[in-house]
Amino acid sequence: MAFTSAVQGFAKLSLEEKIKILSEFSGLNEEDLNLLKKYRELPDYLELENNIGPFKIATNFLVNGKDYFVPMELEEPSVVAAASRIAKLTRAEGGFKGEYFDSKMIGQLQLLDVENFEEAKENLLKKKEEILKIANESNKIIFDLGGGARDLELKEIETERGKNLVLHLIVDTLDAMGANVVNTMLEAITPIVTEITGGRHCLRIISNFADKRIVSVTAKIKIENLAIGNYSGDAVVNGILDAYALAKTDIYRASTHNKGCMNGIDAVTLATGNDWRAIEAGAHSYVARNRYTSITDFGVEDDFLVGKIEIPMAIASIGGATNSKKARLAMKILRVKNAKELGVVVASVGLANNLGALSALGSEGIQKGHMRMHEEFVKSGK
Ligand code: MEV
Repeated sequence: MAFTSAVQGFAKLSLEEKIKILSEFSGLNEEDLNLLKKYRELPDYLELENNIGPFKIATNFLVNGKDYFVPMELEEPSVVAAASRIAKLTRAEGGFKGEYFDSKMIGQLQLLDVENFEEAKENLLKKKEEILKIANESNKIIFDLGGGARDLELKEIETERGKNLVLHLIVDTLDAMGANVVNTMLEAITPIVTEITGGRHCLRIISNFADKRIVSVTAKIKIENLAIGNYSGDAVVNGILDAYALAKTDIYRASTHNKGCMNGIDAVTLATGNDWRAIEAGAHSYVARNRYTSITDFGVEDDFLVGKIEIPMAIASIGGATNSKKARLAMKILRVKNAKELGVVVASVGLANNLGALSALGSEGIQKGHMRMHEEFVKSGK
């Protein structure tokens, strides 16, 4: 029985051996193994290392003290190798540590033709409890589970077609991504809101700028362990910090830097049947809230490089395509219990991929470095 995801030589093992380890670690059954096999029979299946069917498997992830094999659905094997390599380096220092600051989604109800904004806002706030009650009655399931509409925020927004009053409905969507829950609630409260304000509604839709559902993950790596080829750990860290500094200030670099994070984030969200476009939209809008910049931050503390990622993570462990057989298998391999746990793992993979790319870019270069690292990782069986 493999008790950790730090399996020596995982990438070099035969497909059967890899699947055996995963089966023991995650308790896969006959049905799960058959599903993996069916994916391997599809015409677009490539026999690349760490590819077990619909996804490739990243190893070595230790997140908040728990071990994970991480299913990643993407075509680039070097992304999986890079994530596994960085995850291994973070393990020595206790792995990734993460938390959610909050878990709420925001729905927007756009009101036009409001005549008196002050009066409309005052009246909406007076009737807040009634509005929240109507919202919660429209989705009893989420309310009964302990979530639901929690609050209202009101914004006056000047547009090129006049001033809007925009009502933000703040909803705890628990383990659901939230779009269905929030959109249903917005439509349910529309009659009372238009009656109170005298306005006319236009759009009613969730916002993907999920700044009330932020996940934050940090990790540290001993500098000497970052050495690559002829580059010492110090040299690699200097390269990482210089590359990061450019991403902080230059949009041309920030975009690509962030793409490196999203390589990992999208791959896990796709494997688990999540709406990866919503998570992309959230991540990019969050880092553009003042001026577009890097999703991650890096610094040095004593003998360690410390990295941090902080992004909105509207991820689900229930609902929609997370109910598909493939997604349920990915969740089983991950052994995650809920959406929050999944979100922390996903952000950890994003941080690992970003650091993997920067360590190559800041030393030997991506072609030689990243590709060679990938080959070495496979050969050495780390
Ligand atoms: C390629 O898929 C991702 C990178 O471009 C990320 C980066 O430049 O940081 C290597």
